[in-house]
Amino acid sequence: MGETLLLVGLQWGDEGKGKIIDALAERYEVVIRFQGGANAGHSVQIGDEKFVLHLVPTGILHPEALCIIGNGVVVDPAALVEEVRALQERGVKVAENLVLSDRAHVVMPYHKVLDRAGDASLGRHKIGTTGRGIGPCYADKASRSGIRFAELMDADLFRARLRAALQAYNPVLHAAYGEQPLDADAIYEEYRGYAKELEPYVADTIPIVHRALEEGKNILLEGAQGSLLDVEFGTYPFVTSSDVIGGATAGTGIPPTRIDRVMGLAKAYCSRVGAGPFPTEQDNEIGKTIRRTIEEHGGREYGATTGRARRCGWLDGVALRYTARLAGVKGIAVSVLDVLGAFDTVKVCTAYRVDGKELASFPANARVLAEAEPVYEELEGWGCDVGGATGWDELPPQARGYLRFMEELTGARVEFVSVGPERTQVIERTADE
Ligand code: IMP
Repeated sequence: MGETLLLVGLQWGDEGKGKIIDALAERYEVVIRFQGGANAGHSVQIGDEKFVLHLVPTGILHPEALCIIGNGVVVDPAALVEEVRALQERGVKVAENLVLSDRAHVVMPYHKVLDRAGDASLGRHKIGTTGRGIGPCYADKASRSGIRFAELMDADLFRARLRAALQAYNPVLHAAYGEQPLDADAIYEEYRGYAKELEPYVADTIPIVHRALEEGKNILLEGAQGSLLDVEFGTYPFVTSSDVIGGATAGTGIPPTRIDRVMGLAKAYCSRVGAGPFPTEQDNEIGKTIRRTIEEHGGREYGATTGRARRCGWLDGVALRYTARLAGVKGIAVSVLDVLGAFDTVKVCTAYRVDGKELASFPANARVLAEAEPVYEELEGWGCDVGGATGWDELPPQARGYLRFMEELTGARVEFVSVGPERTQVIERTADE
């Protein structure tokens, strides 16, 4: 009997998912993306080579893994064509190993224009989206005016759906945002070109997924973004537009009863790109030290998709406790532990206070969260670089103490610790450690 493992980021994304998925992928025969789109950026460093995957599951770097872009993903075909080509140019085996669901929604040019113009029009209230058209595409899906790959593959139906969409959106683009109307014929030609290029990959993925389950294959569900960006449970409205935690069944066709285990991913501290409340943010020397240290260690605190500088701060234990419970994690993988080696003491937020009172739960209201004062617990630091540690035993006692503190917060066992950007800098903790 195979195992279906769901991997979920427990913070605001960028928890180092690419690296952990890469470490796990060789044990899983099938790797599936189920939500989000090209807003994601999963990085893997292999020697001198860096791979950043946006739509293609990270499992593609393992030639034995079958990689599926599930029905819950919103796919920009231009981005996918480019990503596939770039991978092939670098010798990655894609043609035999990638399948794209015919139920996945297509990100159209008007989605990208609406996303960028819409967010810009919010001025200081903007969400700071990645501008990849994600929100408008999911909005179309919910309002039943979206275009799926099954329709893109059907030339006549695609033309009709495109015409209808532009009839609705061109006046909005012009009147609300002063944008030029988009040309149906030009988009039709461009997108039919992508359709031809992607045709070999497009399939009904439901039977493929169900066959894998029946055959007892090990399946890895590759979450994108992070739980605090979940449209349902995150810091709404400063979130992405998909179900980061609960989307794994809806976005793949795998029944809820067939998800065997959930592993959460968390950074040893917190970071966030885009706007929105971030109670433990350190927009000061501490934040600068985090950013400088990660660069000294060969990493970067800049978004893998947009290149924007990430906001950095201490670990938010209240948020972590909340998302770990929502996701039901039994194990966690902790990344960038090495960076905290730059501090003599490290802080973890264990409660929020508003108007002198402790909040009983993670607030729904983003304004309340923005005003929340973090209550910190200060832990002894380890004050050295742990980048060379290859086993749990080699971590300083203070670092292990910090990880145990994360276990108390999440109610989950630390199973992996990443201590640097290299593929090899991942410690897997054995069952008896
Ligand atoms: P959208 O997903 O482009 O609509 O952006 C909504 C919010 O989610 C913005 O704050 C983005 O910066 C953030 N976001 C989206 N995808 C990612 C990701 O993969 N990592 C980190 N933040 C992300």
